[in-house]
Amino acid sequence: MSATSVLIERNTAPEPMIRLKGVRKAYRSGGRESIAISNVTMDVAEGDLVSLVGPSGCGKSTLMRILADLHQADEGEVRIGNSASAFVAGRDIGMVFQQALLLKWRTVLQNVMLPAEILGLPRRESEVRARDLLAMVGLAGSEDKYPYELSGGMQQRASIARALVHDPKLILMDEPFGALDALTREKMNLEMLRIWQQSRKTIIFVTHSIQEAVFLGSHCAVLTAGPARMADYFEIDLPFPRTLDVKTTEAFGVYTKRIYRLLGMD
Ligand SMILES: Nc1ncnc2c1ncn2[C@@H]1O[C@H](COP(=O)(O)OP(=O)(O)O)[C@@H](O)[C@H]1O
Ligand SMILES: [Mg+2]
Repeated sequence: MSATSVLIERNTAPEPMIRLKGVRKAYRSGGRESIAISNVTMDVAEGDLVSLVGPSGCGKSTLMRILADLHQADEGEVRIGNSASAFVAGRDIGMVFQQALLLKWRTVLQNVMLPAEILGLPRRESEVRARDLLAMVGLAGSEDKYPYELSGGMQQRASIARALVHDPKLILMDEPFGALDALTREKMNLEMLRIWQQSRKTIIFVTHSIQEAVFLGSHCAVLTAGPARMADYFEIDLPFPRTLDVKTTEAFGVYTKRIYRLLGMD
């Protein structure tokens, strides 16, 4: 490739949706400072599904809070959105947590509509969208049920629909399947890939499961604790759509080994 074409390619490459550069955050308590994250540098393109993997306490939730604009970084650059579209955290982010956190006095449909209500979006359109999303996550027919009538996996699917209802640009998921049993979790992984491919959203997904990180991610960021830092960031070049078979391939093993090594577990 000639120097000119390299230049042109660089100039026309889309701006990343998220740019983190040298991000550091420490917590202070009792006069002592402990570093929660450091050295976090990554570019996330629109439509990427980035898995964030690392042991408990390595700063995954801290990084999510910085992305959600709930915490400020002490150092480094945090930029979300690009010149073509301004980014407003409250409107442009959908969040999913380890617990579904549905309001027990609201029906499934009313729960899913909550973010749209808070943002004051038109009611009728939001309801149509909420119903479509419930169908997409496999909950058609459960719209008028209450959370206690749903299994853990179904509740978590409702919370994913809720995170999408206001059509956010970025979905932040913090160990969303951590409370589910192993079989439900595998099913949810497959669902999640389907939902991602259908909704074409940019997703940052936190997990401490190395298998889950490789299976789901288009990219993977590995965080380590002691010292807290980002150890690696790479693309996972396994073709989509993925099925569970991919876990038995050699390439899958190469990626998981790479992460085990980074985490000092090889
Ligand atoms: N609000 C806080 N105040 C003080 N320390 C905190 C706070 N939140 C997290 N920490 C500390 O920062 C480190 C990273 O925490 P966290 O981001 O929750 O990690 P993870 O989500 O990977 O388990 C841990 O050592 C944790 O104890
Ligand atoms: Mg956490």
